[in-house]
Amino acid sequence: MIEELSTHTWIEEKIFYPAAREAAPDTKDHVLDSIEEHHVVLWMLSELKGLNPVDERFDAKMSVLMENVRHHVEEEEKEWFPDVRKAMGRNRLSELGEQMVAAKKKSPADPLAVPSAQQ
Ligand SMILES: [Fe+2]
Repeated sequence: MIEELSTHTWIEEKIFYPAAREAAPDTKDHVLDSIEEHHVVLWMLSELKGLNPVDERFDAKMSVLMENVRHHVEEEEKEWFPDVRKAMGRNRLSELGEQMVAAKKKSPADPLAVPSAQQ
């Protein structure tokens, strides 16, 4: 889970968000919002990484993490991904999809190595 979410955030930040801002400049505030949401998720992941599952804070931390991730995904998919999809068109979207799949190999497994964790 930690690796999957680190990969997701890294790919979005490195490839998808810049491309979205270029294609649909009006999405800028949404992108900035998403980056802050990543920031919180990545720090929670880094804390979970070192936390023993029997620790009394583990379940609560997991549950708040999942709430944050669900909120993030819902906001992106409902509020602004449709605008990006429309602005890019089919060819650009499939090209971007390929770039994102290729970038997966380069993404870090460490949540704090994702850019938004450090700002
Ligand atoms: Fe995201």
